Amino acid sequence: MPQTEQAQEQPVVVVLGTGGTISGRAARADDLVSYAAGEVSVADLVSELGLQPGVRLESEQVAQVDSKDMDLRVWQRLCERIRYHLARTDVCGLVITHGTDTIEETAYLLQALLGPTKPVVLTCAMRPASALAPDGPQNLADALVLARHHQAQGVLVVCAGKIHGPAEVTKVHTYRTDAFDSGDAGPIGVIEHGQVRRWRPWPLPGSDGVTDQRHRLAAFLALSALPRVELLFSHACADGFLVRGLLGDNQGLGAPRLCGLVVAGTGNGSLHRSLQDALVQAQRAGVRVVRSSRCAYGRVQPAEGDALESMAGLSPVKSRLALALDLMAG
Ligand code: SIN
Repeated sequence: MPQTEQAQEQPVVVVLGTGGTISGRAARADDLVSYAAGEVSVADLVSELGLQPGVRLESEQVAQVDSKDMDLRVWQRLCERIRYHLARTDVCGLVITHGTDTIEETAYLLQALLGPTKPVVLTCAMRPASALAPDGPQNLADALVLARHHQAQGVLVVCAGKIHGPAEVTKVHTYRTDAFDSGDAGPIGVIEHGQVRRWRPWPLPGSDGVTDQRHRLAAFLALSALPRVELLFSHACADGFLVRGLLGDNQGLGAPRLCGLVVAGTGNGSLHRSLQDALVQAQRAGVRVVRSSRCAYGRVQPAEGDALESMAGLSPVKSRLALALDLMAG
């Protein structure tokens, strides 16, 4: 068989660029702090890898943002492009380059909305592309291995050789290249010398209990704004002023209506009594209030007679998204 025909038979991996430090550039190679995220194009990131012959890659720049500025428009565009490429029979998997700061939110959202049966692998870097020893190229190469793995499925996050699941992955370090953790569950697996070693199941569609994902995705793509859900913390000396101020927004003109509140409680989702009184008042006023925990490990165990519901096993930021999607569904 001629070389070109053989190459054509390889499945395609599509790499979607959204920005982040992986595509960041600093004025000096030893500067790992004062750089601009989202400078290098995804096409350049891919071409600089120098891949083995026979691997068919396409790249597409969906956005070029610092992920701290992630917004609904970028998420909607990303969902549309992922949906388009996943439907292609010649595509075996997708890689998305993304900033580390909100990658866990995007991963959770994409799994909840798309529940893909092919791998959709988010990857990132803690050092800009211009660094003396950037971590992005290895992370991208590992993500490409996973996207071509014949059994992999679901939304996955790859960083520093580890494969994390969308419900558990959390950024836990401000600076180190191995910046992510998967809590009690641990990573799904690792990528070692281009081989995937898996320890627990791939994320399954509908694992968050939603069966009609297509309907939910259509509703999400039609949104002009996510239902407004704010995030608060309980802490020593907490009070109810912030909650009462937010409730005031629903009386006044201008601010989007407050639909939900997530509170990151202490320990097992416990709340300072002054804050809890205000939150119960908010619940009575029609705002959905959900408890999560400030703790990095464990889940909130509900108890009989709890005044406020809890979000099983999700971090505060993911609880915020889960609640917004729930409220979107009505
Ligand atoms: C970002 O999240 O876009 C910037 C930080 C990073 O990618 O590490």
